[in-house]
Amino acid sequence: MTLLMANWKMQGEGGLAHHLLGALKDLTVEGCEVAVMVPFPYLARAQSILEGSSIAWGAQAVHAQSVGAFTGCVSASMLAEFGCRYVLVGHSERRIECGEDAAAVAQQALQVIRSGMVPVICVGESLAARTAGESDQVVSAQVQSILTVFESAGLTAISCIWAYEPVWAIGAGQAATPQQAAQMHAHIRSLLSHSVLEFSSKCRMIYGGSVNEDNLASFLAESEIEGVLVGGASLNSEQFSNMVAVCMG
Ligand code: PGA
Repeated sequence: MTLLMANWKMQGEGGLAHHLLGALKDLTVEGCEVAVMVPFPYLARAQSILEGSSIAWGAQAVHAQSVGAFTGCVSASMLAEFGCRYVLVGHSERRIECGEDAAAVAQQALQVIRSGMVPVICVGESLAARTAGESDQVVSAQVQSILTVFESAGLTAISCIWAYEPVWAIGAGQAATPQQAAQMHAHIRSLLSHSVLEFSSKCRMIYGGSVNEDNLASFLAESEIEGVLVGGASLNSEQFSNMVAVCMG
């Protein structure tokens, strides 16, 4: 089932969160899944407004440890208390802005799984890597670092979401082509197929980076692309509802 996931990033102030959540609650969603990843302060509101609706909600980050003296941080079990179904880990903005490295991202994903939620593991290469023809190597290393931690943690069956988000396409107004995204999804799938871990059918591949109501259908036309992660275009309730309609086909 196609997954349409909104990522508000650090936005929603001045009544915007309330407006967007209200608009989401009123959506009719059939044959696809819609989720919204809100900033921490809006989780309680997302829970109270969306509970009982067909829209799932989640968080954009989580700490790598389960509990402790980590001022300003939020644990996976806290997010679970607020009814989150999904948690983003490894978004490039956090890898770059917050210095989260591969080891931290892998531990975060593990915390999310152990707390009964689904990690949305973001991977993607920089423009420099793409230009140098190293996209596959960069993404392979990102995926492999996660798999190694999952394997040594003794996990067996895992359901998670892999979001291919090339750094050069995020917030750029210039998305990857559907073919570029599909190729990378196939590459990630082949990495997963070589893992000793059993990935359940719930392991999905989504694309993110400048997706909007105009280009969404072209991504969904690729069988490898099972959904999208939408930043900027998710802050406009009308555009987002048009995107839901596209996903419903
Ligand atoms: P964008 O962001 O849609 O604004 O490019 C996507 C993302 O960063 O998840």
